[in-house]
Amino acid sequence: MNRMKVDLDRRHDRSYEIVIGQDALDRAGIMLTQGGWARRYFIITDSHVSALYGSRIREQFSAVDPNIGIIAFPAGEESKNIHTAIRVAEELLGLGADRESGLIALGGGVVGDLAGFVASTFMRGLPCIQIPTTLLAQVDSSIGGKTAVDLPMGKNLVGTFSQPKMVFIDLSFLETLPPREFANGLAEILKYGIIDDLSLFQELRDGAGRLQQRDMERLESVVTCSCRIKKRIVEMDENEKGVRRFLNFGHTIGHALEAVSGYAMAHGEAVSIGMAAATRLSERMNYLSGPEAESVLSLIRTLGLPHRIPQELSSDSILACLRVDKKRSGDRVNFILLKSLGVPFVNGGVPQALVAEVVEELKG
Ligand code: GLY
Repeated sequence: MNRMKVDLDRRHDRSYEIVIGQDALDRAGIMLTQGGWARRYFIITDSHVSALYGSRIREQFSAVDPNIGIIAFPAGEESKNIHTAIRVAEELLGLGADRESGLIALGGGVVGDLAGFVASTFMRGLPCIQIPTTLLAQVDSSIGGKTAVDLPMGKNLVGTFSQPKMVFIDLSFLETLPPREFANGLAEILKYGIIDDLSLFQELRDGAGRLQQRDMERLESVVTCSCRIKKRIVEMDENEKGVRRFLNFGHTIGHALEAVSGYAMAHGEAVSIGMAAATRLSERMNYLSGPEAESVLSLIRTLGLPHRIPQELSSDSILACLRVDKKRSGDRVNFILLKSLGVPFVNGGVPQALVAEVVEELKG
């Protein structure tokens, strides 16, 4: 079991622990009781996770509350909207939740973001415990306090920064994760290796086969390393005014691809192609050397992650989408580029013509 603390400031009550292990959940009940954050807890999850793990979780938390309430909404990104958030809040009221209650977000990124959003707004804020069940949520979205729902105009456009009280990362959830979901998380782990940690990059390269076979020792190592990187970045820049923006490496083009595909493309798939694009842009703008760019592109391939833009996605639509990206400032589209492996920076001056060329190249 690995434990680390996200140290946010001197106010002890805003810092929290991340617990990582193959049986992290076994400790959840006792740690919740010790934490004393709420008198009663409610589990927020989706239909999919509830069917798979509902009874195990209920059992796990029986010592905290034998009648713990579970609220499950339909699985999928389509549910991540204000209407679902209102329905969850209404159900919470129906089940008797009050200001001394706490929420447990059990699921992938959609559940974590939506439950976190409800927790941060219901009765002006309840404590939230994150129990991420996908690799992507374990290494990224459950840590750092970003909560949100989508609007028809784009993803995550309404939300808050609201840190959880604790994050339990139980690696046994990864055993049953569908391959596409697993690849989603691997893309985010690779991102940490590229922007921050050369030894993680090498570990991914040397251990790609064992990771793809979901070797638990390897997984524990790369998940722990990723969480350490994410927590360090969040500690430095909780509200994404500076270094936290580096976590958006691959996300500028990635978000455009997701939107243009009508969200048929998974987030990690889009980010993986987006990382290939950002690497090419860095090379073409003479920041990144050819061999370093090739080592990134080659590791994307070795990990079996996508690196080509599907032909059916219109280049014009991708470029139009970039112009309304949430990360733009004024008319400038901000890209996270690389000066070398482990040295990212924000660049708002990438010529549109070059972006168009790289998009065409990745379709080739
Ligand atoms: N997923 C990027 C962040 O939490 O900042």
